[in-house]
Amino acid sequence: MQTSSKVSGVVPMPVPTPSPADATRAPATGHPFDRGYDPALFQQSVEKACAQLTRHLSDSLQGKGKVLVQESIEEIARQLDFDRVVAEGGADLEKLVAVLLRNSNRLHHPSYIGHQVAVPMAGAAVADLINGATNNSMPVYEMGPAGSAVERKLIDWALSKIGWQAEGSGVMTHGGSMSNLTCLLAARAAALPEAWEKGVPPGCAILVPESSHYSNARAAAIMGLGTDGAIRIPVDAEYRVRIEDLERTYEGAVRAGKRVLAVVANVCATATGSYDDLRAIGRFCREKGVWLHADGAHGASVAVTEKYRHFLDGIELADSMTWDTHKMMATSALCGMALFRHRSAMLKTFSQEATYIFNSFEKPGEDISVNTLECTKSMLSLKLFFNLAIVGEKGLGSLVETLYDRTREFHRLISNRPGFSCLCAPDSNILCFRYGEDSALQDRIRQRLVLEGDCYITRATIHGKSYLRLSVMNPYTEERHVVALCERVEALARQATA
Ligand SMILES: Cc1ncc(COP(=O)(O)O)c(C=O)c1O
Repeated sequence: MQTSSKVSGVVPMPVPTPSPADATRAPATGHPFDRGYDPALFQQSVEKACAQLTRHLSDSLQGKGKVLVQESIEEIARQLDFDRVVAEGGADLEKLVAVLLRNSNRLHHPSYIGHQVAVPMAGAAVADLINGATNNSMPVYEMGPAGSAVERKLIDWALSKIGWQAEGSGVMTHGGSMSNLTCLLAARAAALPEAWEKGVPPGCAILVPESSHYSNARAAAIMGLGTDGAIRIPVDAEYRVRIEDLERTYEGAVRAGKRVLAVVANVCATATGSYDDLRAIGRFCREKGVWLHADGAHGASVAVTEKYRHFLDGIELADSMTWDTHKMMATSALCGMALFRHRSAMLKTFSQEATYIFNSFEKPGEDISVNTLECTKSMLSLKLFFNLAIVGEKGLGSLVETLYDRTREFHRLISNRPGFSCLCAPDSNILCFRYGEDSALQDRIRQRLVLEGDCYITRATIHGKSYLRLSVMNPYTEERHVVALCERVEALARQATA
């Protein structure tokens, strides 16, 4: 954990207090852009949009209407009167918002059981508004003291949830892919401090589970290891790494003359939601002196639960972890965290001078973004902070537990239904299942479901077979919604085979 430096001898300048009339006075320079800065228009537009959104969210939560309506690009553009509003401005945003909401995927609808994207809480939405209005971009403390301070405190909070508070540190990122790359770059810097200047010598690699999110293999290519430098660890039927496969893969890589910079563990796997055995993988990595990166983009949020925290058993043996809050902590996208067990390792990741922006002048806070790939960054921290401020960590913990619990119920329901089978019992809130045995049938069913839009689910290919896939993201999805889904699957299967 870090403490902020204090600035000595600074006398604040008096700030003129505006008269009440100033509060909504429009700038009037006669330029066509004045309208864009009119505070009264801002207030009016936000109030109207807020009323529309409130209705939209409330209807969605009650399951009214379809989850998804997908019209064509040209049709949506026509409804938006796109060409005219772009050329002339002066549009009534209320009309545009109505079109946009009609053509949005309604994540708050209980039949949204789709991708691993959070059903956002009000706190995150308000944070997005503040970010949009103030644009405190935070490459350095002075460009967003509030956002930077909240980020620092939340990183410390997250570290404390996984037991890394003593020596750890971290940074918020625009998402899990960015965080995985940041963490793996730290692993590269730890193993090859000279790589920043000299480049990466041939033969370096990272080991990634076959089932890991593609951003890890992509990071290997970006880091100069080539895609061949992301060596795949075979996984079992449920997409988990078995320790003997890790050993074999590692030994094979070493025999082939590779230098292994890091091992990635799934916390949990994107397609199946299965958690790897962090303790076993961690012990192996310690023994070999290899960096362990835990990709907890989806599954790290169990850290705020009592019931499912055990999935992080062994996290003390990892060196870095990705944790997205726009998956399981009800924030809007994107909001990721790259966490490091040792602050010193994070500080070595990027060794660059940019004197116009990075400096060691006395300041009341710290420039967090020195430690991330991103320069300009939105105030990600506010989304998580406001959610916490509204429901507390117990509230977010109960959300994660509810989603995981529900998925266990849906597993029982689906696997007991004739004709259906599940890939495995779920660890998390992801469940893969099939109706019958035919892969092409699953794909056809899924395509029809998505076009009809009454419910929204995804698909996955697991060991060459197609599965229908639920990500239970909405805590208001109940058994009756899953029963309705199963009935529709059965009907579509009958139609397809008629
Ligand atoms: C395990 C895992 N890692 C990384 C990512 C990428 O995260 P993002 O979409 O925030 O870049 C995902 C996305 O689903 C994921 O499931």
